[in-house]
Amino acid sequence: MKITVVGTGYVGLVSGACFSEVGIEVVCVDIDQKKIDKLKNGIMPIYEPGLEEIVKRNYASGRLQFSTNLGEAIQGSEVAFIAVGTPPGEDGSADLKYVLAVADEIGRTMSDYIVVATKSTVPVTTGEKVRAAIAGAQEKRGTNIPFAVASNPEFLKEGAAVEDFMKPDRIVIGVDDERAEEIMKRLYKPFQLNGDRIIYMDIPSAEMTKYAANAMLATKISFMNDIANLCELVGADANMVRKGIGSDPRIGNKFIYPGVGYGGSCFPKDVKAIIKTGKKYGYELRVLQAVEDVNDDQKYVLVKKVKQHFGEDLSGKTFALWGLSFKPNTDDMREAPAIVIIDELIAAGAQVKAYDPIAMKEAQHIYVGDKITYAKDAYDACVDADALLLITEWSEFRIPSWSALGKLLKNKVVFDGRNIYDKSYLAENGFEHYGIGTQDPVQQLIKNAL
Ligand code: UDX
Repeated sequence: MKITVVGTGYVGLVSGACFSEVGIEVVCVDIDQKKIDKLKNGIMPIYEPGLEEIVKRNYASGRLQFSTNLGEAIQGSEVAFIAVGTPPGEDGSADLKYVLAVADEIGRTMSDYIVVATKSTVPVTTGEKVRAAIAGAQEKRGTNIPFAVASNPEFLKEGAAVEDFMKPDRIVIGVDDERAEEIMKRLYKPFQLNGDRIIYMDIPSAEMTKYAANAMLATKISFMNDIANLCELVGADANMVRKGIGSDPRIGNKFIYPGVGYGGSCFPKDVKAIIKTGKKYGYELRVLQAVEDVNDDQKYVLVKKVKQHFGEDLSGKTFALWGLSFKPNTDDMREAPAIVIIDELIAAGAQVKAYDPIAMKEAQHIYVGDKITYAKDAYDACVDADALLLITEWSEFRIPSWSALGKLLKNKVVFDGRNIYDKSYLAENGFEHYGIGTQDPVQQLIKNAL
């Protein structure tokens, strides 16, 4: 079986590599010649655990190929996945120009029946636009070769993308053509040997499923951040409340961790896009608008706490920052809360000394020159810093040596943006701990004064 995957970003590269891993012949196509050359030389455009090994192994065996020539790649392919970017346009709606350009090229070059499946997160009705683009391109060259359109949204998480692909919870396929359904079934068989997890549906429902899934997860996070902020005011502890509500299986204990706000390439973009879709149809998605607003504000919460402790003017102060990526196990800094936090600290006159196990190279594209200092390790970031800010919960930050940190930091103060430290343990070690939705030192002072 041969397939083509267009776009070698997160979704395309991981999907292509994983399909080749189970024996399928895969051509990954991208218009970026440099990226393709690098991939041929085993250089990954992204950091993703396990990906490099799979790519190198399957490229060496010839099962995985890289090309810039889409017309050539699709010859003999039973499926062409479109996994190119859908960046937000100025108004927040997903820009489909790359998706439709690929559809057009498929229409211009196809010579046999093919299933064209969108894997990028695309707004409802994109399937129809893809169908029209392929048919239109065929009409121009006077052909009418049969083809099918499908929607096969990807639910992979950065940092666990390979595992998510190899062992999916569910595979959603929107399709309206029996032959296409059979082909997709054959393609996904190797990933679900221990039980069928494909959910077939119509194309608009599949397109909507992806947005609804991300919007629901984003809602859980903003809901919990909202509750956490209230916990601080009323004297409750959000960590306890989280455990208390998470034990109800209807709520579940996942994705209810308060923090410094969600980031990444999906939630912010997809929440904006679905709100935009609602507006287009004259419907206001009020819950999701609130989800977005809460998240925008949440990125400022930690610096507000820093200012409560040190005062509004932070000039002359230096802060150690642990974690830059939007979450652990990725170098991705798109919409990362760290960016808002660093900008706010700098705007208040402070200096920032940052450390991240993987994302420092990425951060250097954002903070060029000496705007911030990059530390050689987590402890180095704390040398003579006025306080420590934990932004991303990488494993290596979980149990630091508090005695060593106590000697390196000027003040024993920790702003814990992910609630990974135990407040009372830190207190025993002489540290003041500010968390998210917990009773912080400043609040306790206010309460004692009342
Ligand atoms: C997400 C979806 O999980 C995935 O299914 C979809 O395909 C793409 O979008 P990803 O963006 O990789 O994946 O990250 P995810 O692990 O979902 O985390 C998103 C953000 O939410 C991160 O910034 C994370 O720190 C934050 N988060 C997550 C919280 O603040 N609290 C939580 O309880 C969970």
